[in-house]
Amino acid sequence: MKVNGDVVALDVEPWVSLLDALRDRIGLTGPKKGCDQGACGACTVLDGNMRINSCLALAVQYDGHEITTIEGVDHPLQEAFVRHDGLQCGYCTPGQICSAIGMLAEHAAGQPSAVTGEAAGQRLSEPEVRERMSGNLCRCGAYNGIVDAIMDVVG
Ligand code: FES
Repeated sequence: MKVNGDVVALDVEPWVSLLDALRDRIGLTGPKKGCDQGACGACTVLDGNMRINSCLALAVQYDGHEITTIEGVDHPLQEAFVRHDGLQCGYCTPGQICSAIGMLAEHAAGQPSAVTGEAAGQRLSEPEVRERMSGNLCRCGAYNGIVDAIMDVVG
């Protein structure tokens, strides 16, 4: 697979998660292991433009894919998170930022909201952002800063 633009040849057992492969085999510790069961979003990485919980993904499923972790991200969201105090301890931040990038890509691709009823093509509203980011938990409760940072980038 490609990880952050570099070709990586991995020889992993079929039961190794993508998260463990990234962290333990490649040394990319940006994606965090929070719950290890798909509930917190701390492990979020990008598969192309699609956000995935890497703790639930088997590394072997991503043979030939292009994976991006926070180490490979260069996006205005990063400075926006700093400007708006979108973090406290920072543990969830890599996942929050990767998830937000994926969310913006989903929206740009015209995915309508299944929850708030917003149509495709409309500017993302704050409630829509909160809903679409609801898979990423922040134990410090920095949600207002996180949403403010995303809304800043949404414009
Ligand atoms: Fe993957 Fe929590 S560690 S969702």
